[in-house]
Amino acid sequence: MAHSIGVIGGDGIGPEVIAEALKVIDAAGVALDTVDYDLGGARYLRDGVVLPDEVIEEWRGHEALLLGAVGTPEVPPGVIERGLLLKMRFELDLYINQRPFTHPDGDHDFIVIRENTEGTYAGEGGFLRKGTPHEIATQGSVNTRFGVERCVRYAYDLAASRERQHLTLVHKTNVLTFAGDLWERAFTEVGTEFPAVETAYNHVDAACIYFVESPQRYDVIVTDNLFGDILTDLGGAVSGGIGFASSGNLNPDRTGPSMFEPVHGSAPDIAGQNKANPIAAILSAAMMLDFLGETEAAARVREACAACTGLTGSTTELGDAVAAKL
Ligand code: IPM
Ligand code: MN
Repeated sequence: MAHSIGVIGGDGIGPEVIAEALKVIDAAGVALDTVDYDLGGARYLRDGVVLPDEVIEEWRGHEALLLGAVGTPEVPPGVIERGLLLKMRFELDLYINQRPFTHPDGDHDFIVIRENTEGTYAGEGGFLRKGTPHEIATQGSVNTRFGVERCVRYAYDLAASRERQHLTLVHKTNVLTFAGDLWERAFTEVGTEFPAVETAYNHVDAACIYFVESPQRYDVIVTDNLFGDILTDLGGAVSGGIGFASSGNLNPDRTGPSMFEPVHGSAPDIAGQNKANPIAAILSAAMMLDFLGETEAAARVREACAACTGLTGSTTELGDAVAAKL
């Protein structure tokens, strides 16, 4: 039976790369029943709509969501990020952001598990005396034992399923002594359930050095929302480029659809030029196939992408090349 999927092409290069991802899924022989949602910066500029609650309700009827990229320079910062992307993550309880980094030449292969619904992204804070010389702006970080523990447990589970069975906690426990303490205790205590998993801890600044100098040390990394955001851009940069970085915003309890998207943004500077690398979107679609239980097709899509390593061409040429391998 065809899988019911909501598709949000979005802005900039989003629709271009999603078209290639859908082309490749089709070539892999997986039938999708897709519904398109016109959302993003362009839609907001047209009629002021960001993400209506009815749309979220409709999404609950889909098995998964596939998103290209959202955001346009004309829209003030935060409107689409908070109103669409973060609202999606919060409302659908997509508490895991899973971002794999496999270097095309086999140099390293690790996965970052980023907590996706708390931390500084929760939006705690505000202004006092805004616009005056005595202005105060606070931006809190929310860390619940429940939220941290479920994220850490997911990361242990994943590490236990991999050959190396190694998990690194990344934080900044020497300065963020409250949040860091909670994370460290949750990490240690949940770890007792996984005696076979070897563990390590890195401060986030040191992790930046290791990402560049010795990424081979990593197998699975678990970290908070903001550290995970920053580290995964770096992960992309050291793993062939951000054009190859895929992600899944997961609700592992499956109380709603999970959402899959490339890590890159809408790249308005190259939009509409058939220039964007579609591999990140294609690999995100492969993650979606895995999540849908189409593991054999997912593996074939990844192999087809790997077989196209080094190839250059337009967005559609690369999509065609991957599809041809299938
Ligand atoms: C990402 C993006 C988002 C984030 C932005 C666009 C809200 O950078 O998915 O990494 O910070 O999570
Ligand atoms: Mn980011």
